[in-house]
Amino acid sequence: MTLSPSTQRAPWRDILDSHLEKTPGYEFTIATVGRDIQGRFVPRVRTCGYRGFFPELELHPKGQQAMDEQVEEGGNPSVYESDMLTFTSDTRMEKLGQLEESGHATEAIFWLKDVMAQWRVKGRAYAVGNLSEDEEVEQASRKEAAKGLRVKSDANGDAAKWTWEKAVTKYFANHSPIMRGSFKAPPPGQPRSKVPDDQSLGLGQKVTDLHDPVARGNFRVVIILPEEVERLDLSNQEDPKRWKWTLVNDQSGSHWVETELWP
Ligand SMILES: Cc1cc2nc3c(=O)[nH]c(=O)nc-3n(C[C@H](O)[C@H](O)[C@H](O)COP(=O)(O)O)c2cc1C
Repeated sequence: MTLSPSTQRAPWRDILDSHLEKTPGYEFTIATVGRDIQGRFVPRVRTCGYRGFFPELELHPKGQQAMDEQVEEGGNPSVYESDMLTFTSDTRMEKLGQLEESGHATEAIFWLKDVMAQWRVKGRAYAVGNLSEDEEVEQASRKEAAKGLRVKSDANGDAAKWTWEKAVTKYFANHSPIMRGSFKAPPPGQPRSKVPDDQSLGLGQKVTDLHDPVARGNFRVVIILPEEVERLDLSNQEDPKRWKWTLVNDQSGSHWVETELWP
């Protein structure tokens, strides 16, 4: 059984946000579960760029300009928020297959040295953005991620006009043209000696079309539904602190339980 997200804003969310705001530049580390060549379960980790809580994303002016020019009404109305963390990735990378094959298990970790805080987010991650290849996987991912959406208290606009397509396009627009081009690079992780037959694939391409079929075919937004969040505060060496928030489903619905732990 999977846990349902809470209908209330998670108690840890604003604390994590305030720590991220105080940190000039950061990435986070994403763990998945894979299998080695003998079929044994193995951890796999890699650095990824954190893209905020789905679906709220503040676009840089050029990204917004591209949205205004190429997407109906410049994108979605501002109606939803969530406690789901995001990163973007390429469907050809190993992490996405590992998520599908492991029941979507993930752990994300930030070490924010400026505030001496470590944040660990354990949960499930779903990739959205598959426009054509595998409708069933895409619909299943959207369904799971939709459970974590909440209508904002200051919602502005018509929820009927909100679409997944526009939400994913906004994340694509948030990348520079050269970064968008990386989604039409030769297959990541394959030997460089294997030159792809597909002429549309190559390094260093700049993509200005937000609906470029090749790049968008590979582009995914990965949405993490947190189930347990842990904060380790090392700002005072004499009194380190550690808290855990656990998502609990019971008769009263879904809510977060906070426990202070010995560090
Ligand atoms: C600073 C930095 C940021 C990165 N950001 C991302 C990212 O946002 N998404 C991503 O898929 N890979 C990102 N990567 C590359 C990954 O670390 C990794 O090499 C790649 O995703 C392949 O991993 P996989 O084969 O395990 O899926 C980043 C690497 C670095 C060093």
